[in-house]
Amino acid sequence: MSRPTKALISKKALCHNYQVAQELAPNSNNLAVVKANAYGHGAVVVASILEALVPAFGVACIEEALELRAGGIQKPVLLLEGIFSSDEVELAANNNFWIMVDNSQQAEWVLNANISKPVKVWLKVDTGMHRLGVQPKFVNEIYLALRASDNVNNDIVLTTHFSSADEHGSGETANQMAIFDKTKASLQDCLDQADNIPCSLANSAGLLAHPKSHLDWNRIGFMLYGNSPLERENEASKRLIPVMTLKSAIISIREISAGQSVGYNQTWTASRTTKIATVAIGYGDGYPRSAKSGTPTLINGQIAPLAGRVSMDMITIDVTDITDVKLGDKVILWGPELPVNEVAKCSFTIGYEALTRMPKRTPSVLVD
Ligand SMILES: Cc1ncc(COP(=O)(O)O)c(C=O)c1O
Repeated sequence: MSRPTKALISKKALCHNYQVAQELAPNSNNLAVVKANAYGHGAVVVASILEALVPAFGVACIEEALELRAGGIQKPVLLLEGIFSSDEVELAANNNFWIMVDNSQQAEWVLNANISKPVKVWLKVDTGMHRLGVQPKFVNEIYLALRASDNVNNDIVLTTHFSSADEHGSGETANQMAIFDKTKASLQDCLDQADNIPCSLANSAGLLAHPKSHLDWNRIGFMLYGNSPLERENEASKRLIPVMTLKSAIISIREISAGQSVGYNQTWTASRTTKIATVAIGYGDGYPRSAKSGTPTLINGQIAPLAGRVSMDMITIDVTDITDVKLGDKVILWGPELPVNEVAKCSFTIGYEALTRMPKRTPSVLVD
């Protein structure tokens, strides 16, 4: 016997979601983003499942890339946040890690490195996110310097990152694409017209909602894990299947009277005679402490609302209206029947954060 709190990871759902991306963008290389421990799903586990399907992986930093190599992953790995010091260039070249160049300092590190084989580089353009990326007016100079260097492969990918592709009706994605196109055209003027500049725009929201953003490379994260990043679902996002089911079980049941409170600081008080079930999961297991009373959980296919504060190891739920509830019953905190986005909304956050906060303490179990 063991504590029933587990994150089940569905191999079938993961492959299905990647297949959805392939069908939506059949002419692109769809790179799988597995940073932050594959959004809480287990980076090596996820990458091992996807390795035969994907052309490359994306992570935030070289430590995450090395973790993939230590786990036996051989496909190229793009460092989405670039490098943090000059010595990382050699490590990247030797391990087939691709370097995102976000600024002139990173470009200098690549240009001045003493390496025996060239490294593949992506050059990020700041088209409006104003977080990372080279400003359009500096792109030609940096791209051409990188292209002329023996340290860099010829096929430098020009890329940018969307700020608002998830928002319904926002014109910002079109604005960013227009700035990108203009930047690319100016660069093309400096190159031989026959020279192809490989490009990458789409993240998950771009892939799902902005077909014009599907270029040579897409970089998809959240949608792979089966949840929609979109403010408003569309036909494409409805095809996704959540990969993680977070589950636990009831370890205690009691009846309390109207007027009695539950949990730390008595934040929830019963308005009727109420059956309270205690479930073996808390914020120490990745369930958000900020989840408010009323946040749905699922028992035997029925919704039971959270009642009172989330503790480190436990939550309490109101099961008065659940039929045949008993000790040991399985409780689903999120999964295919209860989207993590819904739970995240009740916790004043987004599904991305809820998933990536999954701690080591919660064992993950690979299922078919
Ligand atoms: C540069 C870059 N590309 C792609 C992604 C993947 O985004 P998403 O998980 O929304 O698909 C991220 C994630 O934040 C990113 O930083």
